[in-house]
Amino acid sequence: MSRRDALAFLSTTGIAALLPRQLDLLSRAFASSPLRVNGARLNDRLGALAAFGKNAQGGVTRVAYSDADRQAREWTLSLMRDAGLQTEVDAAGNLIGRRAGRDDARKPILFGSHIDSVPEGGNYDGDVGSLSAIEVAKALQESGTQTRHPLEVVIFQNEEGGLIGSRAISGELAAKELALISQSGKSIGEGITFIGGDLTRLESVKRSKGDIAAYVEVHIEQGGTLERTKTDIGVVEGIVGIDRWDVTVEGFANHAGTTPMDQRHDAMLSAARFTLAVNRIVTSIPGRQVGTIGRIAAFPGAPNVIPGKVVLTLELRDLDAAKIRRLFDRIVAESKAIGAENGTTFAFNETNVHLPALTDHRIQAAIMRASHDLRLSTRIMPSGAGHDAQSMARLGPAGMIFVPSVGGISHSPKEFSRPEDIENGANVLLQTLLALDADFE
Ligand code: HGY
Ligand code: MN
Ligand code: MN
Repeated sequence: MSRRDALAFLSTTGIAALLPRQLDLLSRAFASSPLRVNGARLNDRLGALAAFGKNAQGGVTRVAYSDADRQAREWTLSLMRDAGLQTEVDAAGNLIGRRAGRDDARKPILFGSHIDSVPEGGNYDGDVGSLSAIEVAKALQESGTQTRHPLEVVIFQNEEGGLIGSRAISGELAAKELALISQSGKSIGEGITFIGGDLTRLESVKRSKGDIAAYVEVHIEQGGTLERTKTDIGVVEGIVGIDRWDVTVEGFANHAGTTPMDQRHDAMLSAARFTLAVNRIVTSIPGRQVGTIGRIAAFPGAPNVIPGKVVLTLELRDLDAAKIRRLFDRIVAESKAIGAENGTTFAFNETNVHLPALTDHRIQAAIMRASHDLRLSTRIMPSGAGHDAQSMARLGPAGMIFVPSVGGISHSPKEFSRPEDIENGANVLLQTLLALDADFE
């Protein structure tokens, strides 16, 4: 029974005179549906998905546009069809599974995540949200429950490479990004074609603000807060903005044996000083901002040659986009001082910009209500990781449900979440979707 129907029923029983608070509590007692996911099936399928790109360390290397990614996508599509979803691969390569609503004229409620991984990643990042979404669709199919709104399960492509699939839908993907080289070695454009997308129709996947009724995503926390505070469910208040640059340090390659130390233009020395400066600047002000140098390469890359060039990546994250800009400006100023010390230069090429996104308060409340109805504890918290939900937040109200990461570990073969926590997250997703279906226009 929806909350709306429950309230209508209560008002016929003459107890509507109760104080609003008690009435709301009573209506909430009717709010949650007895429907539940099949946790065993969900966790079995997580184990099966881990086989695609399994690596020796026990985790997974299923980077976007790899053979393992393409095989896992085909398998995932079969699960979506098994759940009764009308499936499609959109022109950007996202997997879309549709379930008609009683009133198909309504805007759809979307839910999903991603199944691509980082190199040597874990078996839960993205996978939990993707398979939970399909499990919810399966539970609705098995129970013959039809929602008012049409539903769409979306498995976004190349989340790890910069929210590529979801930003194609939100209209934020820039044409120049198609030329960027992904972790698979293919350009993003080549990758989209490789997974069944169509570059000539990329515009067709774009949606506008208001085109979706809501978006909800289950994801592992990828940090240690829920475990440390013994909390079952994280209610995400906002997702950090992420800015990424390729930084090129130019020096002068020379003989490592015959070039005196005070006559070198050593690009690696400048890169090392730069890395220390980034850490010092990012930690110099209070807040939860983070800065990372994730990849570095020296050229020509021989032990007996002073590096003439170093290419590294810089990534800054925070809930406040203006703070990211201020930190970046200080880092650029510092790089000029570093270069002046030994005759090297720094060039910054911005490769990826993900704006921060606050989640919708009504969806936060629905997640809280669903969790409490399921006797699960909750905690409101930010997301230090980026997610497709921040792209979907451009199109309509978005929300995220976190489940605990054991040891707070992620982007690692040691990534692990307990089966009961995963089942909890999927049940909260199911109850939240039913509540939004009842409450949202
Ligand atoms: O990098 C991230 O924050 C996410 O896991 N893609
Ligand atoms: Mn993820
Ligand atoms: Mn990730």
